[in-house]
Amino acid sequence: MILNAYQISKSYHNGEKELHVLRNVDLELQQGEIITIMGQSGAGKTTLLNILGTLDRSDSGSVSICGLDISQLTEKKLSELRNKQLGFVFQFHHLLPEFTAMENVLMPALIAGDELNARERADELFDYVDMTERRNHYPSQLSGGERQRVAVLRALILKPGVVLADEPTGNLDESNADRLLNLFHKINDDFNQAFVITTHNPNVSDIGNRRFVLENETLNRIDSI
Ligand SMILES: Nc1ncnc2c1ncn2[C@@H]1O[C@H](COP(=O)(O)OP(=O)(O)OP(=O)(O)O)[C@@H](O)[C@H]1O
Ligand SMILES: [Mg+2]
Repeated sequence: MILNAYQISKSYHNGEKELHVLRNVDLELQQGEIITIMGQSGAGKTTLLNILGTLDRSDSGSVSICGLDISQLTEKKLSELRNKQLGFVFQFHHLLPEFTAMENVLMPALIAGDELNARERADELFDYVDMTERRNHYPSQLSGGERQRVAVLRALILKPGVVLADEPTGNLDESNADRLLNLFHKINDDFNQAFVITTHNPNVSDIGNRRFVLENETLNRIDSI
């Protein structure tokens, strides 16, 4: 098991008001599995993904990644685990504008002090998405679809246990969204890479080995059609 979330609950407090977002949510992700999570705007998808990705804490419940209970880890160990085992793809690519595509992809490796091995892998990854010619371009010189592919490569550079993708196609037109979906599929097939993907888009939901919808604070399985 790559990731195990158990009985996750979360509310936000805005002044007097309490907003319950997640109630006793369980999620188990196996090696090589794709889980997709649909849900309306405000349902709590980003909140859940941030908790799974150790970027935010739940009020109760536990999260284990690669068998490690994250509540037992020091901040240092936690950031090491986050950098090594988790890849993030956001709705807006979040590439650093002052660095080239290649430098952006290498960033997690630089942080981990593992640049030497990463360079070769980065070359392979750019080739893998047919972007070798564009690897020295800055984000502003790339199309939206290309930027999102670069963001995916950055998530993959350290071969994480799981890639968490929050509405990765939310900002793309249909053909770029399809292309990104095919890429997720191919990465999953070729590298046995596990994904948790949130989305509004039924086409994205369909690539899940298990598909869920987040509504009324709970995560419910969508039956196979
Ligand atoms: N830091 C915060 N403080 C207070 N309320 C918050 C905070 N973050 C999110 N919320 C609220 O919690 C609810 C869930 O937000 P979340 O961003 O997880 O939804 P979402 O499913 O990702 O929505 P979208 O599809 O629009 O991205 C929303 O009602 C939101 O306004
Ligand atoms: Mg969101």
